[in-house]
Amino acid sequence: MFETIQSAPPDAILGLTAAFQSDPNPAKVNLGVGVYKDASGTTPILASVKAAERKIVETAKTKSYMPIGGDPAYGKLVQEMILGVGHEAISSGRIRTAHTPGGTGGLRVGADFLKKFLPGATVWVSKPTWANHRGIFQAAGFKVEEYPYYDPKTRALDFDAMKAALEKIKAGDIVLLHVCCHNPTGVDLAHEQWSQVAEIAGKQGWLPFLDFAYQGFGASLEADRFGLLAMAAQCPEMIVSSSFSKNFGLYQDRTGALSLFAKDAKQAAASFSNIEIVIRVNYSNPAAHGGLIVTTILSDPALKQQWILELNAMRDRIAGVRSQFVAALKNAGIAQDFGYIAHQKGMFSFSGLTDAQVAFLKEKKAVYVVGGGRINVAGITPKNLDYLCAAIKEALTVV
Ligand code: LMR
Repeated sequence: MFETIQSAPPDAILGLTAAFQSDPNPAKVNLGVGVYKDASGTTPILASVKAAERKIVETAKTKSYMPIGGDPAYGKLVQEMILGVGHEAISSGRIRTAHTPGGTGGLRVGADFLKKFLPGATVWVSKPTWANHRGIFQAAGFKVEEYPYYDPKTRALDFDAMKAALEKIKAGDIVLLHVCCHNPTGVDLAHEQWSQVAEIAGKQGWLPFLDFAYQGFGASLEADRFGLLAMAAQCPEMIVSSSFSKNFGLYQDRTGALSLFAKDAKQAAASFSNIEIVIRVNYSNPAAHGGLIVTTILSDPALKQQWILELNAMRDRIAGVRSQFVAALKNAGIAQDFGYIAHQKGMFSFSGLTDAQVAFLKEKKAVYVVGGGRINVAGITPKNLDYLCAAIKEALTVV
């Protein structure tokens, strides 16, 4: 049965981590997977998370099954996180939320749910987008197409082309948008541009599917919601996948959510019952631990404050590294201007390195960068900065 099966290619992002781990070069640098690292190069467990875990261990009474959609208290906190307390969609009950295994789980549950009710829809993703978006929607059976987003010549958003494409997408299709910290480019829409996209969505009637994986890594928890709020104001029906992997550092606890917005509470409840069926036949109900951590922290004012300070520190470090990196590339004698890296948002930078340069960096310098040139800026530390800049200088000269 299995004799004829050929090996699948390694994952474009997680496959790099495996290759990095088995690389014997002591100077190796991992700028691949989107995981926060502090100045010492470690991915810390936040102190607020540790405190919450201690509390959970002391007070937990059962490990019985969770509800299919997870703890309703967690769902409510997710809604308040992505929309802000008191939003009309929450008070009217027209948003329903399921705890999913990370943002990826949210995307897949949402995709499977939509395939059932919009079987002929095309899913539109930005060019470029996170490598796994295409994989997830194709695995659910959708045709995936791209709308223009990033212009490699200007290293900025090509908003005119994006708008023109979105204006042609028909009702019943699905458009995936990154709410903040666009992965992989780090190039986001300005507020005014979000308002225009929301207006187009409202007029055209396509369904927005928002990926909100980096809340708090752009400008702040509140400011990063802007695009979501703009879309919610124009589109009564939307799907949102959100994640606590990055902002709480809960990568391995798979703590995300899928939220569905409908026109009213009755339609939301009917749709949500179908989301529960998707979950039940897939993983039955979510693992509790990550959700308990988030619920514990967000329900305790002191822990919440501690967490916000820790989140701000992560964001500030990345912003600082961006400027240091641009300056260090210049100091290394590289003529090319990398100033745009300092203006990109979130964990990633679209470095402008070609695939050949990325291959050179991996093979000759043990510097791991995602194909297409995406760099995890958080992976840059005072210890590897000079080595990295010298390696990039060589890559730019040799390749
Ligand atoms: C990334 O883009 O590196 C992260 O979202 C991790 C992942 O699952 O790919």
